[in-house]
Amino acid sequence: MADSPESSAEHDVVILGGGSGGYACALRAQQLGLRVVVVERGKLGGTCLHNGCIPTKALLHSAEVADHVRDSSSVGVKASLDGIDMSAVNSYKDGVVGRLYKGLQGLFSAAKIELVEGTGRLVAADTVEVDGRRLTGKHVVLATGSYPRTLPGLEIGGRVMTSDQALLLDDVPSSAVVIGGSVIGVEFGSVWKSFGVDVTIVEALSRLVPAEDEVLSKQLERAFKRRKINVRTGAKFESVVQHDDGVTVTLEGGDTLDADIVLVAVGRGPRSEGLGFEDQGVTTDRGWVPTDDRLRTTVDGVFAVGDLVPGLQLAHRGFAHGIFVAEEIAGLRPMPVVDSGIPRVTYCSPEVASVGLTEPQAKEKYGEIETYEYNLGGNGRSQILKTQGLVKLVREKDGPIVGVHMIGDRMGEQVGEASLTVNWEAFPDDVAQFVHAHPTQTESLGEASLALAGKPLHAHA
Ligand code: NAI
Repeated sequence: MADSPESSAEHDVVILGGGSGGYACALRAQQLGLRVVVVERGKLGGTCLHNGCIPTKALLHSAEVADHVRDSSSVGVKASLDGIDMSAVNSYKDGVVGRLYKGLQGLFSAAKIELVEGTGRLVAADTVEVDGRRLTGKHVVLATGSYPRTLPGLEIGGRVMTSDQALLLDDVPSSAVVIGGSVIGVEFGSVWKSFGVDVTIVEALSRLVPAEDEVLSKQLERAFKRRKINVRTGAKFESVVQHDDGVTVTLEGGDTLDADIVLVAVGRGPRSEGLGFEDQGVTTDRGWVPTDDRLRTTVDGVFAVGDLVPGLQLAHRGFAHGIFVAEEIAGLRPMPVVDSGIPRVTYCSPEVASVGLTEPQAKEKYGEIETYEYNLGGNGRSQILKTQGLVKLVREKDGPIVGVHMIGDRMGEQVGEASLTVNWEAFPDDVAQFVHAHPTQTESLGEASLALAGKPLHAHA
């Protein structure tokens, strides 16, 4: 479609957005011999690398180290916590991001993938325009991601911030109110408490991490109580007033909370406004771009990936979507990406990790189910690490394991085995016969399977 003098050579794939979904699609498409161009207005790597997963997990690691120092005497080590140096925390965090960013740029240049900087707009079903330059492709992939949402009456600015600004704080606040007790809320709440902040989390629903199996919410609330994190569930934000030395948050019903800062963590919305999607016939739903299971939008040749597509907003879902679409375009007929098979990890302390169906979801799907909860109290490695928690397995009655739900420090690292178990539709007997190394936390998955298979070892029948 060389309809303008500036028109570049035609591409096989034009990708709008260089975050997890977009860049994964580009790398895979290039491997498959497709001619690909990526349009990115910020930095290659997107939210996950620059404002999300990576920097927040670096903060959580600093937080973990602070907790270890604070608790050191309980394992016989003499050390004292003198304080948190936010500028050093930030240089550590920025160093991690910087190295990964450099690596990603290296991958792109080695693959000779063209990266066009600027804000792209869909101006035809096969064309993205960036600063007057038209990029045409046989296929277009929408990968513009999401942004932190707020609530009516909750203007972002000053002491009221989203995760974007909270990641840039150069001081440790003395107190914080976190609005929203799901993933972002509990991760930041956890970091700040470890840094010595007085934290109150306000969640409208009846429990923290409300998308998880209820047993994890209960355990997390208990653990947060032990950590003296204040949790207000069933409490809705109503208004906020900023004054010179702090903020006052009013909840529905009239209770007020005073703090230094407020974090708004009430979800992320789709980034699609003004990008021309609807004008070109792409059906959207409140800004999201719904797709079929092959990630096709309502316009032929236009795909959508990652956070823009309703469902789990996770970087690794974006990677999987991106790879899927590249392979689909190349005619490899890949297996669709199914949300329920995607592992989820929330990196607060203790960590929450899960894959597959919760107990109520499994009941609804299979009718009869069986569950087993293995308490980490019986797991040697967890005892050594002084963490509490559990592994809960959900299986279809006499059938495979369809859900794994875990809580405990470092249990996020066990999500790999959990994911293989669920996605390979393993039976408890299958997992039970694998020898799990001792003493590791993976044993807790083995022990839970042994128990469900009717032969518990370090557990009561
Ligand atoms: P979320 O959509 O998971 O949860 C928002 C929470 O805010 C809900 O629990 C909701 O009930 C609550 N809420 C809404 N209105 C409220 C009100 N008026 N008062 C009090 N509470 C209210 O959003 P979140 O935590 O902001 O995360 C956004 C996305 O980013 C999620 O999809 C999450 O999975 C993803 N993410 C993933 C991470 C990970 O995988 N470790 C880390 C951080 C974010």
